[in-house]
Amino acid sequence: MKDDERQQNELRRIIVDIAKECGDIMRSAHEITIRTDTKSGFRDLVTEYDRKIQAYAVKRLSQIYPSAGFICEEGDTDTTEPEGLTFIIDPIDGTANFTHHYGHSCISICCAENGVPMVGVVYDPFKDELFTAERGEGAYLNGEQIHISDAALDGSLVLFGTAPYNLKLADETLARVRSIYGKCQDVRRTGSAALDLCYVAAGRAGLYFELELSIWDYAAGALIAEEAGASVFTIDGEKLQFIRPDKSSVIAGSIKCIKESNLIVNFRAN
Ligand code: IPD
Ligand code: CA
Ligand code: CA
Repeated sequence: MKDDERQQNELRRIIVDIAKECGDIMRSAHEITIRTDTKSGFRDLVTEYDRKIQAYAVKRLSQIYPSAGFICEEGDTDTTEPEGLTFIIDPIDGTANFTHHYGHSCISICCAENGVPMVGVVYDPFKDELFTAERGEGAYLNGEQIHISDAALDGSLVLFGTAPYNLKLADETLARVRSIYGKCQDVRRTGSAALDLCYVAAGRAGLYFELELSIWDYAAGALIAEEAGASVFTIDGEKLQFIRPDKSSVIAGSIKCIKESNLIVNFRAN
């Protein structure tokens, strides 16, 4: 094994341990009403668990990688450093699910090097499902290699996100869902973008799209989906960016499903 591979392996092991410890914090929320604060609007929520998990992950990772940068959802981290190692963290993806004890949320940690995602880890502590990927090494669910489905669209579930923090996108999102609904087996709105990408990776769904996400929502999941064989683009068919915390649309799935969906206008990839 080369030095680079050994380091990447070690990085993955460290992130996995930390993600599992964060999962314990998530699972420790037993109170009937989880106290929430709102951010950009009434549906954009944050809880003490989001803050606690983020603080814990940042503390642990920066002890091990003191010069690394961080891009995290819950603020207070330097988001301007694209050089060297950057950890991109969503402490709870699926916060609304979490506040309702819906049992479908995860922690998502990606490590990018000079803007290229190298390791992605998404952990769902409620199902004890750990999705991992290292660039060039494939994608895994609880240690077993996973691949996207080869089903056509009419034999596939399609996942979508509603971009809930930008109501202006609601009509366009729902029009796209309407346009695909008659062509696929059925549609699902799960409430966690990171898990949606991992479910595509695991072949549980043929396609996922959402018109606006932040980098912490998709960084780890997009690498996991790609390493499982998915094609991942913006909804305009462009390459996803992993450097700055800009917002982006995301579509991921097999090329077959993406083409059949017609969700990317003028899609030209083979
Ligand atoms: C949200 C979830 C949701 C998606 C939103 C995300 P959060 O993340 O992934 O499924 O539709 O766009 O922002 O706020 O629960 O971390
Ligand atoms: Ca999120
Ligand atoms: Ca979150």
